[in-house]
Amino acid sequence: MNLSFKSIASWSIVVLIIMQFVPLKRINPPVVSDIQLPGSIKNSLKKACYDCHSNETQWDNIAYIAPASWFASNIVASGRNALNFSVWNNQKIANKRQETTKIQKVISQGAHQQLYYLWKPGSHLTAKEAKALLQWLNLNMK
Ligand code: HEC
Repeated sequence: MNLSFKSIASWSIVVLIIMQFVPLKRINPPVVSDIQLPGSIKNSLKKACYDCHSNETQWDNIAYIAPASWFASNIVASGRNALNFSVWNNQKIANKRQETTKIQKVISQGAHQQLYYLWKPGSHLTAKEAKALLQWLNLNMK
């Protein structure tokens, strides 16, 4: 078979179209026991973490186009699985203090979030927001 550029291109388009029909779990289950935080602290967490660590994910446009949507829904599923602020009191976190330390590590390093979150640059915490969050967690969650 002679695979010309044109036939490869048209087959790729067909495959891309078929990919769009793979069903995805792009749902937001109900919020059961949301973590209780004061307004500004909550806003920072919402901005930087809630898309992957809560049931209030704001699905981006890119989350509707395969194959990007496959990555997005996978990341959200494993993010929620590891830590979910919407079921803060219900989830099986053995030690909330230890979990807070992990959360602080992610906030101060920023790396984990940036790695996954390239598609939404507006969600990164400013240095000031990060500092306020870290301080608040230190005073109130430990
Ligand atoms: C784009 C998705 C995404 C965003 C945004 C995100 N995370 Fe995550 N996070 C994940 C995924 C996926 C995992 C599980 C796999 C891993 O550890 O890399 C995870 C794991 C974690 C864990 C480890 C949980 C455990 O108990 O082992 C912590 C803590 C965490 N995230 C905190 C945060 C915090 C705090 C923010 C906001 C500043 C944040 N994450 C933003 C996707 C995300």
